[in-house]
Amino acid sequence: MAELIKKAKWITCQKKTEGENACFTRYFDVDKKVKSATAYASAIGVYELRINGVKQGRSVLTPGLTSYKTRVQYQSYDITGALTDGQNRVCIEVGPGWAVGVYTYCKNHNVADHTSIIGAIEITYEDKSKQVILTDECWETKTTPVVYSDIYNGETVDMTAPVTALGKAKIDKVKSKLVYQIGEDIIEQERLAPVEYFVTPKGEKVIDFGQNMTGYVELKISGKKGDVIEFDCAEVLDKEGNFYNANYRSSKSTVKYVLDGVERVYKPRFSFQGFRYIRFINIPSDFDLNLDNIRAIAVNSDIERTGYFRCGDERINQLFHNIIWGQKSNYLDIPTDCPQRDERLGWTGDAQVFCATAARNFKVDKFFKKWLGDLRIDQYPNGVINHICPMLIGGGNASAAWADACTIIPWELYRAYNDVSFLEDNFEMMKKYVDYLHSAGSEEFLWLEGSHYGDWLAMDAGEDSYVGATSVDLIASAFFAYSTELLIKSGKVLGKDMSEYESLYASVRARFREFYMYDGKLHNILPKDEKGERKEGILTQTGIILVLKFNLCEESERAYFAGELKRLIAENNGKMTTGFVGTPYILDVLTKEGMVDEAYKLLYRNDNPSWLYSVDHGATTMWEHWNGIKEDGSFWSTDMNSFNHYAYGSVGEWLYGTVCGVKIVGPGYKEIEIAPIPCKKLGFAQCSIDTVSGTVKSGWYYKGDDVYFDFVIPCGVTAKITLPNGKTEIVRCGSYCYTVKA
Ligand code: BGC
Repeated sequence: MAELIKKAKWITCQKKTEGENACFTRYFDVDKKVKSATAYASAIGVYELRINGVKQGRSVLTPGLTSYKTRVQYQSYDITGALTDGQNRVCIEVGPGWAVGVYTYCKNHNVADHTSIIGAIEITYEDKSKQVILTDECWETKTTPVVYSDIYNGETVDMTAPVTALGKAKIDKVKSKLVYQIGEDIIEQERLAPVEYFVTPKGEKVIDFGQNMTGYVELKISGKKGDVIEFDCAEVLDKEGNFYNANYRSSKSTVKYVLDGVERVYKPRFSFQGFRYIRFINIPSDFDLNLDNIRAIAVNSDIERTGYFRCGDERINQLFHNIIWGQKSNYLDIPTDCPQRDERLGWTGDAQVFCATAARNFKVDKFFKKWLGDLRIDQYPNGVINHICPMLIGGGNASAAWADACTIIPWELYRAYNDVSFLEDNFEMMKKYVDYLHSAGSEEFLWLEGSHYGDWLAMDAGEDSYVGATSVDLIASAFFAYSTELLIKSGKVLGKDMSEYESLYASVRARFREFYMYDGKLHNILPKDEKGERKEGILTQTGIILVLKFNLCEESERAYFAGELKRLIAENNGKMTTGFVGTPYILDVLTKEGMVDEAYKLLYRNDNPSWLYSVDHGATTMWEHWNGIKEDGSFWSTDMNSFNHYAYGSVGEWLYGTVCGVKIVGPGYKEIEIAPIPCKKLGFAQCSIDTVSGTVKSGWYYKGDDVYFDFVIPCGVTAKITLPNGKTEIVRCGSYCYTVKA
């Protein structure tokens, strides 16, 4: 009877309540024996459903974030045990949330300028009779102690504020389609105890939870009536050891409680924060700060952990830990760029570069089904895919490597889960997008012009550049080829005739080679300048990585380009210069081109830019910028410096796929290759992945002059094992051990 909610009416308050929560209430009698009772609810805003004062369900921040203008999820609750004989009370409390509050860096009210709710209750009695309660104009509305709530800015709960009746509800018009919960529930996960309370040199009272995360702080407080406890959040301290959150930009992330003298447990319920530290802005002087009464609660989508990795180097283990927490923190209903500043948006590029690693670490199929549904909804009629999904802001422009999320993510998820619906559901979107690329710009077979983020945050265009030195047109045309290739592969899985796109692919690849690779070299031809001229920029690591990764060179040319990549790395003192586009592929490309030693060297570096730089600087999640905190302790910038951005965590794929060597050959790991490449310096490495075909394990360790390998292949899976001595074997179901001379 989930459709019952569709018979209910959307309701709102008579008077707009700015930033304030409102509670919609209705009393009803239960006078017979209840067999079962279910409630359904949704909101434009973020809501909590309570029966007789008790919150129902384990989900928080419902109804979650979707392309609200088109669809909004509703949830169901088994409320059988919550009802009592006689009078009962249902309350749906709603705050502005993502839909109405200050969300997106454009600060627009993106869906509506007021909150609304909808709900239904169905009670089935033992005598088989039913009672139905629907939201309508008879529901009462009132204010709540949550006098302010906002996704970015935080929450104010004033237990002394009088609850004011706001009169009967008003029928509202909401055009969004109601859809039953598609994604994973957003739930409270780990509860972290403070690791330290200290006073900074500036005199700030700070608590460190030891882990950068997304969620909120729970406090058990018994103060005097009128006492105020207020704190804000930070991810890092500055070089003097003071609290630092200028990188949150306009996001105030401040939580304030006005106490009523009764001992209570407080936590935000209509907002969330990204933080490791909190700083008390207000705290009564006689307050008993008992750390046992303070917990940080991690809040994310209920994705199941599937991937584990460990090796003989604690710094790389910390890197892996940071990748896991980077993902947890940014998989809160949608894949976000970061959880703390005034963004927390579904940036398509970030989601794309990390999705292969994400699908190893956690079971993310359901999570992405919902998001890809929104990506389809948000696609422009001309095929453009926006840079953010849900598309709360956007200008109808596709940026290479961001928009390509629409081909890459369905393909990667199909590979990980052998779920053809990822291709079936998204094929039209992929095709429309490739057709758009075919028509975009001044050349049929290149993607020229347009506005792109390029090799975002790469280091080769100077310390302070955002876009990197690789020509954005070159990146765009390379992704044109790659997306077309993935469309063809997807179409073939679906049994479609892809010959038209095969010839498009051939033309794009040929034209790319003609335009950027004449005389056998790669030319970093830049977009037209103001005079309409195209200059050649410096050759970049990312340019060559794309040529090798997307097979834009011939087999016979590979060695030359691989040598060029090696040369560019050597010329840069053995370091990467890559940003969001090149970094996810660099280690894989080096490995495939027979330069695994170079790849390991990059993994082991700890100077800027490198993965271990942030680890050595105390990171507990992935950083947005390689040197978000510079060697001298100052910050890279204030406006683009998140310490919880998973994009560079895409190196996880190399840890699973090369260090432990588990590669997907047939979708859903039905067919795999296990070809680990051990490294003596690492000592040992092991991974375990709970795949849809069973648990795959791969590990190795050095002992004396030998390397020992242990593999576990689940039943029904065919694995081609390749050992470093070249020995190969096809195996099925079972445990396998090998020893190879180091
Ligand atoms: C985000 C990125 C995103 C980028 C677009 C930033 O503000 O945080 O991760 O992909 O904009 O280039």
